[in-house]
Amino acid sequence: MTMDRDALKRAAALRAIDFVESGMILGLGTGSTAAFVIEALGARVAAGLDILAIPTSERSAAQARQLGIRLESFAEHQRIDLTIDGADEVEEGTLNLIKGLGGALLREKIVAAASDRLVIVVDHDKLVPRLGTHTPVPVEVAQFGWQATAAALGRLGSTPKLRLATEDHQFITDGGNYILDCAFGPIADPQRLERRIEMIVGVFESGLFVGRSTAVVMASTSGVAVMTPAERKLP
Ligand code: A5P
Repeated sequence: MTMDRDALKRAAALRAIDFVESGMILGLGTGSTAAFVIEALGARVAAGLDILAIPTSERSAAQARQLGIRLESFAEHQRIDLTIDGADEVEEGTLNLIKGLGGALLREKIVAAASDRLVIVVDHDKLVPRLGTHTPVPVEVAQFGWQATAAALGRLGSTPKLRLATEDHQFITDGGNYILDCAFGPIADPQRLERRIEMIVGVFESGLFVGRSTAVVMASTSGVAVMTPAERKLP
């Protein structure tokens, strides 16, 4: 079963690579699907593709470095031509997203916001009629006062849970923050919720990505489809 899902993730990754052209500044996503993208990019770079990349996590940076992909940062480039990243849920039609189960949501959102195009790679299990159907919304928060931040998130109608790395240790993001996984159930208005979450003091970003997808490359057993948003809603 795991093998099958990995084959789908790889198929989506290989299709998304078609959007990459020499000379681009590329955003590298995080997660198991994005890792297939980085692997495929490494092979293309070895064959002569000329790109510069900005990674969304230390994990993706390490993989890219090992494959000989040249990395730069926002110090050199404040705009990115194209970012290819994974997602935890994709809403049918709008292609709004929940991201962050891999813990990189803040850097992923900064990279997405600086990108001209955001292409999302998923297998068909991630497609849902409403965001929040299977996945909590990860929210990256300051360590200081996280209990007060969690209480405020609870008042928006969720049940925030501090993410743990092990039984005794909190998960710490690359930026040194905590993550609160907030189960809201199916979300009627993700744009409004995203704004309300981000108004809470102590919150850096939520894993709701509203109006950001340029395209979603989705692999299923019947093939790979490239979907674009039915109505592009900008935040
Ligand atoms: C990382 O923080 C996440 O946003 C990932 O992009 C997301 O969790 C998808 O990961 P997988 O491709 O491993 O499912």
